[in-house]
Amino acid sequence: MLDTPITPAEAHQLRDIDSLYSPTHDEIARQRFVSAVRKHVLVDKAAEMKAAYDREAKPAYKRRHGHAPKDHEQIRKAMLNDMTFKVFSSLRLNAQELSWTSVMDGVERVLPDMIEVARTAARLNPAGGSVKTDPAFKPPAYVANVDVHHIPGSFTAEVAKDDVAIGAVAHFGTKVFAGALPHRKDNPGDVAQTIAHYLKYKHPDFKPKRILDCGTTGGKNLAPYLEVYPDAECYGIDVAASALRYGHAQWEFKGKPLHLSQQNAEATNFPDGFFDLVVSCFFFHEIPVATTKKILRENYRLLSKGGRLAHQELPPNCEVDPYYAFYLDWDNYYNYEPDYADYRSQVPKKLCAEAGFSASSCSHVFIPSWRSFGDDNMRRFVEGKVPPPTHGNGASWFVFEAMK
Ligand SMILES: C[S@@+](CC[C@H](N)C(=O)[O-])C[C@H]1O[C@@H](n2cnc3c(N)ncnc32)[C@H](O)[C@@H]1O
Repeated sequence: MLDTPITPAEAHQLRDIDSLYSPTHDEIARQRFVSAVRKHVLVDKAAEMKAAYDREAKPAYKRRHGHAPKDHEQIRKAMLNDMTFKVFSSLRLNAQELSWTSVMDGVERVLPDMIEVARTAARLNPAGGSVKTDPAFKPPAYVANVDVHHIPGSFTAEVAKDDVAIGAVAHFGTKVFAGALPHRKDNPGDVAQTIAHYLKYKHPDFKPKRILDCGTTGGKNLAPYLEVYPDAECYGIDVAASALRYGHAQWEFKGKPLHLSQQNAEATNFPDGFFDLVVSCFFFHEIPVATTKKILRENYRLLSKGGRLAHQELPPNCEVDPYYAFYLDWDNYYNYEPDYADYRSQVPKKLCAEAGFSASSCSHVFIPSWRSFGDDNMRRFVEGKVPPPTHGNGASWFVFEAMK
């Protein structure tokens, strides 16, 4: 792939960027504690909270209003003063913050080396991918002005020239965030693996030549499409330069050619009809609904005739029971994701139809996690022989689809 010789210094720098991160004993202990707290909150405390709702908050609400809570907003009112909800929220919020701060010291220690490795990867592109960032790019306020899910400085912070710090913090912090939940352990790109294998069985003749991932961060849920579509060109866009640089260095080292660029998904520089498949993973809930509509119209423009959209997201209120809707909305109020509840009150397939896709091509589906349930189950699911498992903790993913 290289057309210029590698100098000895570059050969040294052309390393696995992840391997530079070397947390101390105490840092690892702290990170394990944070993972354990998260697991305790999401498993034990969540179960205690649901029991307290059924036993106390729901009957109390009924005594006051003459009826039990009818929707997620009434359930929230019923739970706001409940002690189990307060303890759950306080622990969860602290564990969320610590997921990122517990890796920051270790990243800071090796940041200059990480930047050098990323620069070298960007110059040499040994796997044949590319990364383009733009110093004049202005990230939208809904990302830049909010510490989205408590990442200090949000995704877009940059503290050094050619910075990769937030990319590294997001990468290693996500491992702490998910670490103690066994089904999420070491589970890179399960959403992409799930959608790719689902499409393979559902549409065996569909062979996308170019794939676009919106809000790709470091490409974790873009690279796995190459497992199913090895000849496809994979493009990822994001407004966060640091995450793109870090991800590009990771994938070049792993031999996966991704084309990453700093772009706003609302209006990209790709020509009409350039892509056969447009995807995303946990993207739209962090974006105002008016902007989501704009992005879906841009997706429509970018797709070729017969091209497909497959966006994974949190399930909307209309697809889950009211208590789970209340539970999911926690992030809206306490996790610096102010558009979360508004997004979840929409019906995604209707948004796709409004963006130009024919209504008959717009649908949504819960797909079983490919990593957790295996390839055979995926095939049987597509054949209608097994139902998806209940959504939650990554057992199945909610995906909305459309075709141009
Ligand atoms: C929760 S993260 C997505 C995670 C990622 N898809 C993955 O699987 O690892 C949301 C990402 O969307 C990016 N983002 C937010 N608004 C954007 C926009 N208008 N255009 C492109 N990227 C955007 C953020 O910078 C962030 O990296």
